[in-house]
Amino acid sequence: MINTIFGKSLISVLDITPAEIKIIFDRTSQMRQLVTTKGGDDRLSHRIMAALFYEPSTRTFSSFISAMQRLGGGIIPLNGMKNTSVEKGESFHHTVQVFSRYADCLVIRHSEAGLPKLATNYITRPVINAGDGFGEHPTQALFDLYTIIEKLGHLDGLTITLVGDLKFGRTVHSLSQLLVGLSTQVVINLVAPTQLRMPADIIENIQKRNIKILETSNLDEVLAQTDVLYVTRVQKERFDNISEYEKLKSYYIVDKKKLKTAKKKMIIMHPLPIAAGEIQNEVDSDPRSVYLNSQLSNGLYLRMALLDLILNR
Ligand code: NCD
Repeated sequence: MINTIFGKSLISVLDITPAEIKIIFDRTSQMRQLVTTKGGDDRLSHRIMAALFYEPSTRTFSSFISAMQRLGGGIIPLNGMKNTSVEKGESFHHTVQVFSRYADCLVIRHSEAGLPKLATNYITRPVINAGDGFGEHPTQALFDLYTIIEKLGHLDGLTITLVGDLKFGRTVHSLSQLLVGLSTQVVINLVAPTQLRMPADIIENIQKRNIKILETSNLDEVLAQTDVLYVTRVQKERFDNISEYEKLKSYYIVDKKKLKTAKKKMIIMHPLPIAAGEIQNEVDSDPRSVYLNSQLSNGLYLRMALLDLILNR
């Protein structure tokens, strides 16, 4: 199969075709095998990835670094742009041009939606969006989807419930649009307080595909039918008014008691970090929880796959 991902940027889930998702997922499974048997190899030796993270990150940053290193590649790891010329006032425009001279691909996280996309206007190197403000987080959505299929076997017929901050949460912006691009047989429940509803343009995109969606603020209304419960953190850093955040941060609390009505065979996901007890610690050991195990490992395997496909013809 020809690698149509070679040399490409990944900015939005809308950039990827179902055929490409299949290529990425096949390679992801190979990467799992590689990591579990040998730890990695050196197929990306002589390739360098610059990770330019203008916003805090634990998992996305470290898993990209780990992914590159497990494949023998080099890294320019900037977790926060402190101590770079950004502090001296260098423009985004110049910064990305500089790193495109030193690295073969740029992984960019920024607090402003649209900046990774903007970078592609300035440079010819591939750019991977590692989260742009309240925009998108396409690599997260890809391994979330991979995890859903791995755990539940298929997508058709599933009821997927996205809960929490659907307004500012970039992971759910990407995941919802990725899901409906692949199957018309999913039911999507959007559970949020009215202040944090999913943006209208994304709902429109979903509805265009004749997908069944239900918007509600009441989790109990949909929990019993749910196959994938995807909980998100209220995105404190996007609020102008911190008292508004305080009011909403613990709007949903998923605990053992709450999960009593949930199916035996379903999964509980969260992109992490859990910041306001939106999933209680007691749920970590529930066999249905995947946020501290496969959802994390798959993030590594999928990012290895992507880097390999983007950097190796
Ligand atoms: C998410 C993000 O940065 O959007 N974190 C992550 O990358 N796993 C979710 C969040 O911060 O709430």
